[in-house]
This record gives sequence, structure tokens and C-alpha cells, in this order.
Amino acid sequence: MSLYSLGMPSQKELFANNKAWAADMLAQDPDYFGRLSRQQRPQYFWIGCSDSRVPANVIAGLPPGEVFVHRNISNVVVHTDLNFLSVLQFAVEVLEVSRIIVCGHYGCGGIAAAMENKPHGLIDAWLHHIRDVQRQHTDQLAALPDESARRERLCELNVVEQAMNVCETSIVQEAWRAGQQLAVMGWIYDLKDGLLRDLGFSVESPAEMKQAYEVAIAPK
Ligand code: CO
Repeated sequence: MSLYSLGMPSQKELFANNKAWAADMLAQDPDYFGRLSRQQRPQYFWIGCSDSRVPANVIAGLPPGEVFVHRNISNVVVHTDLNFLSVLQFAVEVLEVSRIIVCGHYGCGGIAAAMENKPHGLIDAWLHHIRDVQRQHTDQLAALPDESARRERLCELNVVEQAMNVCETSIVQEAWRAGQQLAVMGWIYDLKDGLLRDLGFSVESPAEMKQAYEVAIAPK
């Protein structure tokens, strides 16, 4: 069976979509691509899940050029991940973004897989970081009424832990020491209603980290 018979757009259609979009943007603003091609000045750095249903620009209503993005499975921040650290360094030191958003989402497949007691192959090495979060909050999760509630709460706790990891990087610590204005925030997106929710974690200096963390991880 051809993929196209399943309703998948062909390459031709994607190129036609692109052409129509570019013409539309030019009609609205003749200098649109000229301006964007000269420079990017995003104020936001978004760390999100690779999930196709959670596109940073679209759900935050930001046009191209406004948000610098790093996505991986379950928006995990790992201190030895050179890919992530390079993006973070560029965002903070070169683009000088003023806000870093770690955005998770309910119904995250990576979180669900991490909670299962079965092997998933290579990806288990990555999911291990989420299992660490799960282990840190074993008691709180165990007190919840069912598996679905535990999954949703782990999606939230994972955001808070990863946002803390961002705060702890030498890149962010150094920026704060140098007096750079930089806030690290934790948000979660709900696929069911399309809405973003603030998890109450917002940190602008090393002194705020501990309290923001305690409040955000407290059982609800
Ligand atoms: Co996900």
C-alpha cells in the first residue's frame, strides 16, 4: 500500500504548501524574509518535547524569529548532552534570550514509557533520566489514586526537575553572576484543551532556586 493512499501529503504537496505560505507572508509584509534573513532576535528559548502535537511557535502564538527551540523526547535536560548544552550556550551568550521555558505536556509518550516495567531498546538509556525523576518522588506519586494521575503528575514533576537542571548549568549560573537578566520557567501543555499552564516555577537568580523548587514539587 502506498503511503499516499493513507492520506499522507506528497512531497509535491508540501512544496506547493510552502510556496503558498511564502507568497502569503510576502503579501502581508514585503520585507518579511529580508528582515528574518538578516538576523534573529528571539527573547525566548523553548525546551520542549519532540511530540508533533506540541510545536512551540504555534501554541505560544509566536511567529518565526521569536523563539529559539530545542526539543527532545520528554524535554529532558542532561548535563552531559553536548547537543543541548551547545544550544543553551548559544541562546544565553549569543542571542541573550531573557526567558528560558521548559515546557512538558500531559499524555507524553516518553513519560508513559519510562513508567512501564518493560524494555524499549536504545531509548531506555534516555528514559533513565525520567526514571530518576520518578524515583525522587516515589512517595508523592504512590499517594495518587491511580496510574493516570501518577503519569500526569510525573509529566509535571519532570518539567520542574529539568527546569532546575537548566538553572544549575554553568551557562545559566555564569549569566546570573554577570548580571544578565534571565528567567527560567516551567510550563505544561494539555493536548486535550490546547492550553498552556504555568507550573509556578519561575527563577531569575540562584537565590530563588530552592524555594521555587520546593513550591513547585509540593504535593497538590
Ligand atoms: Co512528549
